Amino acid sequence: MKRILTGDRPTGKMHLGHFVGSLKNRVSLQDEYETFIMVADVQALTDNYNNPEKVRDNVLEVTMDNLAVGLDPKKVTFFIQSQIAEIAELTVLFMNLVTMEKVMRNPTVKTEIAQKFKDGSVPFGFINYPVSQSADILFLRTHLVPAGEDQRPMVELSRDIAEKFNATYKTDVFPLPDLKVGEFGRLVGTDGNAKMSKSLGNTIYLSDTPEEVEKKVMSMYTDPARIKATDPGHVEGNPVFIYLDAFAPNDQRSTINDLQTRYRGGQVGDIEVKKYLAKILNAFLAPIRARRAEYEQNPDLVREILRQGTEKTRREAVETMKLVRKAMKIDYFA
Ligand code: TRP
Repeated sequence: MKRILTGDRPTGKMHLGHFVGSLKNRVSLQDEYETFIMVADVQALTDNYNNPEKVRDNVLEVTMDNLAVGLDPKKVTFFIQSQIAEIAELTVLFMNLVTMEKVMRNPTVKTEIAQKFKDGSVPFGFINYPVSQSADILFLRTHLVPAGEDQRPMVELSRDIAEKFNATYKTDVFPLPDLKVGEFGRLVGTDGNAKMSKSLGNTIYLSDTPEEVEKKVMSMYTDPARIKATDPGHVEGNPVFIYLDAFAPNDQRSTINDLQTRYRGGQVGDIEVKKYLAKILNAFLAPIRARRAEYEQNPDLVREILRQGTEKTRREAVETMKLVRKAMKIDYFA
């Protein structure tokens, strides 16, 4: 079986954007691939080194979010990044295979630096996290990474490193991993911003209550050019209609088509469309909330899933490091 590795920074609960970009693919691919889900606490610390409680508190949260959407802990391996020392070791070895110029050009890192470090003083560990992420991906000799479009530069870097490693040390230790993004692309925020993101405050969380969902939907950004319900409205690019396309089941298609026609013709108000969207989202989230509630009542079970998964992952890491040390001629006492 080919392998999947993907992961999440434990910095907060996961939201609908994560579902569309990555979680949905994880669920649908779990039978086809040997799947590893990493809680990326070391990466989270690169911009939260002074807030370790936050990172620690969110380890169980992101694990429960993954379990809640339907990843089966009997098939899928969950592990915690910091508990696999081999990832750190591989990061150091990989740093020689990447130029500073290349790391500094990473578009995702550049965007994050502009958002997170406004005073321009950036921890070196943060600049280096794409190399560390390449080690995350490669230590399991991964074939596929289901993740959002913003992770493309990291997966490409991991391919470059794998290629360079294999060529330099004349080996075939590492397969070249591919990125798999959600078919729907990136999900807009409730405020119409191109990206749903905690730091932008435009999220709907998988764990939001029905009331929170309703409240967020009712204050969503729609068509700014439309002032009255009788004005002709825009459906394309309108977050409310985008969410309907992303989350409504197929049997709602004719209702949605009808709403679109009436919206374009100025025959339906925002409130009616939003009430319908809130219903659709709450129906979509109901089974996710129910599963999450079961795990929330049993945090020891979640910890046990992580502990066993981490142990299994460590055994895989040891195997890869044997091959790496041999290829790099640092296997002195083997
Ligand atoms: N960078 C990812 C994020 O911000 C988290 C992550 C860490 C990851 N290591 C990974 C994703 C390896 C995919 C593969 O969400």
